[in-house]
Amino acid sequence: MANYDLIVIGAGPGGYVCAIRAAQLGLKTAVVEGRETLGGTCLNIGCIPSKALLHASHQLHEAEHNFAKMGLVGKSPSVDWKQMLAYKDDVIGSNTSGIEFLFKKNKIDWIKGWATIPAAGQVKVGDEVHTAKSIVIATGSEPSSLPGVEVDEKSVVSSTGALTLAKIPKSMVVIGAGVIGLELGSVYKRLGAEVTVIEYLDVITPGMDAEVQKTFKRLLEKQGLKFTMGAAVQGVTVKGGKATVTYKLRKDESEATVEADTVLVATGRKPYTAGLGLDALGIEMTARGQIATNGHYGTNLAGVYAIGDAIEGPMLAHKAEDEGMAVAEIIAGQKGHVNYGVIPGVIYTHPEVANVGATEEQLKQEGRAYKVGKFSFMGNGRAKANFAADGFVKILADKQTDRILGAHIIGPLAGDLIHEICVAMEFGAAAEDLARTCHAHPTYSEAVREAALACGDGPIHS
Ligand code: NAI
Repeated sequence: MANYDLIVIGAGPGGYVCAIRAAQLGLKTAVVEGRETLGGTCLNIGCIPSKALLHASHQLHEAEHNFAKMGLVGKSPSVDWKQMLAYKDDVIGSNTSGIEFLFKKNKIDWIKGWATIPAAGQVKVGDEVHTAKSIVIATGSEPSSLPGVEVDEKSVVSSTGALTLAKIPKSMVVIGAGVIGLELGSVYKRLGAEVTVIEYLDVITPGMDAEVQKTFKRLLEKQGLKFTMGAAVQGVTVKGGKATVTYKLRKDESEATVEADTVLVATGRKPYTAGLGLDALGIEMTARGQIATNGHYGTNLAGVYAIGDAIEGPMLAHKAEDEGMAVAEIIAGQKGHVNYGVIPGVIYTHPEVANVGATEEQLKQEGRAYKVGKFSFMGNGRAKANFAADGFVKILADKQTDRILGAHIIGPLAGDLIHEICVAMEFGAAAEDLARTCHAHPTYSEAVREAALACGDGPIHS
């Protein structure tokens, strides 16, 4: 008889959520996690600590740039880096211990250590073999490497090292204008570093709506971030504590260098499956190194499932969480399901950027007849009062049926505003449904309603 109904490998947002849902559904559940604390990359070295630093550095920015305008005068704060890191660590601690509490509450066993899967139904941790009817692999991802660039987590850092720098650098080069590069790049810019972002493509945040990309880049430049676009990084050398980044401009193949105290490598992540013994088990992988699954999170080995960053799809904590719940429900005999058409994406810079569904470029490519409803935060009273009027809400709706196909927001609390559109999309709503919904005044969310109105007879405040 198996010790457990389910063993989950990995206690990140995918794994811990899966375990809690499984326990709620009556499955005897254990989670294997080798890290000292629960929560995975997201809580320990990703989403949560970066948000603490984004919040703290934004407060400094507000004090430096907007306090005097509101009549708040006097000495503006200076940065105590050690204390800022301690605050960040406190935030991590309260979140990771919260997961430990939830495990106890739900009677989930935490098996401490690193797991291998010797055979279906078996999970080996140290010398001990635990047995389970089902196994879910939720081992997440790790930063991908860049040829010619050696990450030492001191001068040349990944997102992990960037959260524990010994001091705030005077200059920083960020390789990659994706989500990590822009979030952490804007933290260090606000804390006083000169930040240069080197991006291989001619646009930042590839895949995002082109209009948002343009506005986003302009607003980041206004904050002082510098961009070198269309540049492929060739290598980084470190000498006497200074890093030199060599890159080649794609347009004319010319080579150039830039020096910095710190280089942040943020050129993507790859699935982390090393050490599980998947090769020996014969688990099928995709060409991109992800665990291949069958649409219901099952691998080619009966009873072994995989979710989150380790499988295909956007590498997002909330996508992993949804898959965690769905796979637990499937294992418990229910019908778990994730709607991949309505997964929001958020960049927690200032202003925030959020999107869901199709971009205008995708709709054009598909040859779909669509309409655009756009509203600038300049027409939103609350945003003006809060010095947050940069940006807009853009809703894309089907030209004939008015059904919402996608939404793109750059502006204050975009990451929260996007969710009323997600709910509307989940219910197959038309833009008119949003437009006819009363929105409290004065709120940022009125800009969402105005964009919906702009899909019909027109917004009121523009
Ligand atoms: P990314 O895929 O978002 O961006 C990487 C960027 O690096 C791309 O723009 C790419 O063109 C560029 N690049 C690649 N090779 C290059 C080279 N040799 N020279 C110059 N530029 C180069 O990857 P990122 O930012 O590392 O994030 C990794 C994953 O983590 C993503 O899937 C992201 O969605 C996720 N994440 C999500 C967050 C959020 O939802 N707020 C926060 C942080 C990470």
